[in-house]
Amino acid sequence: MEFNVKSGNPEKQRTACVVVGIFEPRRLSQSAEQIDKASDGFLSNLIRRGDIEGKLGQSLLLYNVPGTLSDRVLLVGCGRERELSIQKYATIISTATKALNEGGSMEAVFYLTDINIKGQDSAWKVSQLILTVEDTLYRFDQLKSAKDDFRRPLRKIIISIPSRRELSECEEALRTAQAISNGVSTAKDLSNLPGNICTPTYLAGQATMLDKLHEKLTTTILEEADMEDLSMGSLLSVSRGSRQPAKLIVMEYKGADSSQSPVVFVGKGLTFDAGGISIKPAAAMDEMKYDMCGGASVFGAMQACAELNLPLNVIGVVPSSENMPDGDANKPGDVVTSMSGQTIEILNTDAEGRLILCDALTYCERFEPAVTIDIATLTGACIVALGHHAQAVLSNHNPLTHELLNAGKQINDRAWELPLWDDYQCQLDSNFADMANIGGKGAGTITAACFLSRYTKKFKWAHLDIAGTAWKSGKEKGATGRPVPMLMQFLINRV
Ligand code: BES
Ligand code: MN
Ligand code: ZN
Repeated sequence: MEFNVKSGNPEKQRTACVVVGIFEPRRLSQSAEQIDKASDGFLSNLIRRGDIEGKLGQSLLLYNVPGTLSDRVLLVGCGRERELSIQKYATIISTATKALNEGGSMEAVFYLTDINIKGQDSAWKVSQLILTVEDTLYRFDQLKSAKDDFRRPLRKIIISIPSRRELSECEEALRTAQAISNGVSTAKDLSNLPGNICTPTYLAGQATMLDKLHEKLTTTILEEADMEDLSMGSLLSVSRGSRQPAKLIVMEYKGADSSQSPVVFVGKGLTFDAGGISIKPAAAMDEMKYDMCGGASVFGAMQACAELNLPLNVIGVVPSSENMPDGDANKPGDVVTSMSGQTIEILNTDAEGRLILCDALTYCERFEPAVTIDIATLTGACIVALGHHAQAVLSNHNPLTHELLNAGKQINDRAWELPLWDDYQCQLDSNFADMANIGGKGAGTITAACFLSRYTKKFKWAHLDIAGTAWKSGKEKGATGRPVPMLMQFLINRV
């Protein structure tokens, strides 16, 4: 999609469609009011007749509105003005986007920055508009032979802002949001690919591509032999049951002086999680192709860093493997030795995410990170705790938790904190090794983080469990690209 920002009167736009808001009950927004005046009360007549109430999710496409220069005017319901929120703003934008795309307007001028969202300026609205439009129009059809194209798809959006004075900051917001959106799309594409295509080797290839595309980005791939040399006994134990060789993908973005310590992202890149010998039930097992969404979000974030030319050093590490049942796979009761030297009793082979992450995290010590953030579809328990709206954040450094929570709130990609108290650590006690890989009944997300905390003592670290937010199930099955927006907002706030 092509985006632009400018400022001007709605009735004077020569375009396919002008988009304005209407509040419940039947109250025109400022821009709608302007069109109403220019058209001698055309809109107010219409709403008096009850054609549109202004409820959230409603829209009404009008043709040949008198006094205007555009072919169409789209009225979009915004709900009650007093009840507006960041989340409802996204619904307004996506309603408008769908209506335009289906209604045949190839270009539109949006007058939706005149809607008041508490505490948010025009630049924020421009950014949310772009992120939401791209999210709404995203399709994954690379594997379909017949693509269901729209005959006249929306191609260009001009975002009108109330005042010229805000033009430069809104243009900056536009540029940033486009790069973040591209990162989200990359994460979605990688995540939606099936396990037979998106293997660890495929991901390694994509990382090498990113290296070729961006000057400041360098990719290194560690093979199983390299991991052997590093004594990554935990990570390698997971991939032993798979025909696909594991890869440890390292992407280094150098946007600042090498004296500046890097932010390190570690993303779980489990390209298919069958559970191993502790095999999963058949229902919805296909969705375990999404067990590499954490890794995909790291790819998306690295790409966005490079596109934005961020003045930071950022390193993305993606341990990638399959988790399959096999004669050589991990067995319940096996004891493995991690790179850190700590031994692990594998009581459930399906708790494999922590087994590949722990060695990747130990590997990160060499970067002397400013902070390390791992992102993983780690526990089904996280969905029980938080559902599909918030990702969980657990950290050994309170200020880092708040940086992440705030970044998520700002860009509408929210997280919620769970406690990483020592009280939970004893759930990992093992009679045969330094720790077990599962924590038994209760607090599954917390005990998984407790496990990781034993490998992150040397740096400031946060863990994001994205099991509930990384993809949608059911009719709308598909990756969300989360938490790329949160990670990028976090970085931008650090610049
Ligand atoms: N990848 C799964 C977690 C998961 C399951 C994410 C369902 C999203 C939806 C992870 O590897 C796993 O299997 N975790 C186990 C841990 C358990 C054995 C302690 C789980 O959550 O059941
Ligand atoms: Mn598993
Ligand atoms: Zn898994």
